Amino acid sequence: MNGQKLANRVKQISASITLAITSKANELKKQGFPIISFGAGEPDFDTPQYIKNGAKKALDEGFTKYTSNVGILELRKAICEKLDKENNLSYAPNQIIVSNGAKQSLFNSIFSICDDGDEVIIFSPYWVTYIDQVKLAGGIPVIVETKAEDDFRINMDNFEAKITDHTKLVIINSPNNPSGAVYTRQELKKIAEIVKKYNLYVISDEIYEKIIYDTEHISIASLNDDIKKRTIVINGFSKSFSMTGWRVGYLASIDAEILKAVDDIQSHLTSNANSIAQKAAFTALAQDSNYEFAPIIAKFKTKRNFIVKELNSISNIFCPNPKGAFYVFPNIKGCFGKVYNGKIINTTMDFCNVLLDEKKVALVPGDAFGDKESVRISYALSFENMIEGITRITEFCNDLE
Ligand SMILES: Cc1ncc(COP(=O)(O)O)c(C=O)c1O
Repeated sequence: MNGQKLANRVKQISASITLAITSKANELKKQGFPIISFGAGEPDFDTPQYIKNGAKKALDEGFTKYTSNVGILELRKAICEKLDKENNLSYAPNQIIVSNGAKQSLFNSIFSICDDGDEVIIFSPYWVTYIDQVKLAGGIPVIVETKAEDDFRINMDNFEAKITDHTKLVIINSPNNPSGAVYTRQELKKIAEIVKKYNLYVISDEIYEKIIYDTEHISIASLNDDIKKRTIVINGFSKSFSMTGWRVGYLASIDAEILKAVDDIQSHLTSNANSIAQKAAFTALAQDSNYEFAPIIAKFKTKRNFIVKELNSISNIFCPNPKGAFYVFPNIKGCFGKVYNGKIINTTMDFCNVLLDEKKVALVPGDAFGDKESVRISYALSFENMIEGITRITEFCNDLE
């Protein structure tokens, strides 16, 4: 015993920065304050009824036991059909592994590939879980910045410059949480070329693929056989079917060794994803034609348009127009150095804290995503609340001195 209680691995990960703001917002709400929260990381509609019916049927039929570790065959077949039809990706059911949310699919993938000291390229702003999962696996996250003024596009020279002899893996996320950036075919081709040149692997997190405006989602794995071989595609049901609580995600790969490693890790960690949730996910895909994505996307788009226009009309804020997901990620550095009611704003955390204290509006500071100049605003909330919240943000910014 070395006298130290916690493992070094655990000491490296950090509690979510968002937690402080979220718990403060919840506390104020409990005290009766009219809080408007732009923090939601999930769609603001219920899981569709036909999917719930699939779960009810599974329950009534007693489908309540362990399933195959990698997920029920009918679901993996339905996932293959979906990937073929929607993503131009051909996989066999034994190349799909279903897990407890895309988060576990990511964890299993990172743990399969990443050794102590391996470097993993992650583009900022990023979903913070990538960073902490890489650290837990003993790897080293290497950040390649993208910026609001470049529409969060990847600068390929910056990307290539960060590659060393220790680089093993690149994690991409399109549409992106939090920036909403969607990578074009050209950009994905360039990433694929660099990945091939340096003999790397890719994890492609495509969980927001359906929430996309005026453009198409392209899976990097669909570009050619070489990149398909190197890529683990991650997806799930949380965002597309509003099933965040059901915990069903999956990965697809054609690499038998990676698949075996993922299968083994999962078998010792959680075993199969919840049996009833798997049946619900199967129903989601099998009866997909019952589900109208178009009106959902149209509603999100109206909200995005409104919020981007309103934010850009505030003099010290600049908001790029995101092409996907349900977040905007405005740059607020124009507010730094200014004061509200005697409270100075120097960081994104200050901005969020003072806004919450003074105007009872909760946003997520960009620091949580590796960006020191922006804040994340989720527009997965009602029109009414969104308008009220934006009015308060506008007043707040206009009253900064
Ligand atoms: C970029 C990204 N990937 C993956 C996930 C995880 O999704 P799941 O609910 O399937 O674990 C999230 C959830 O917020 C996310 O934002």
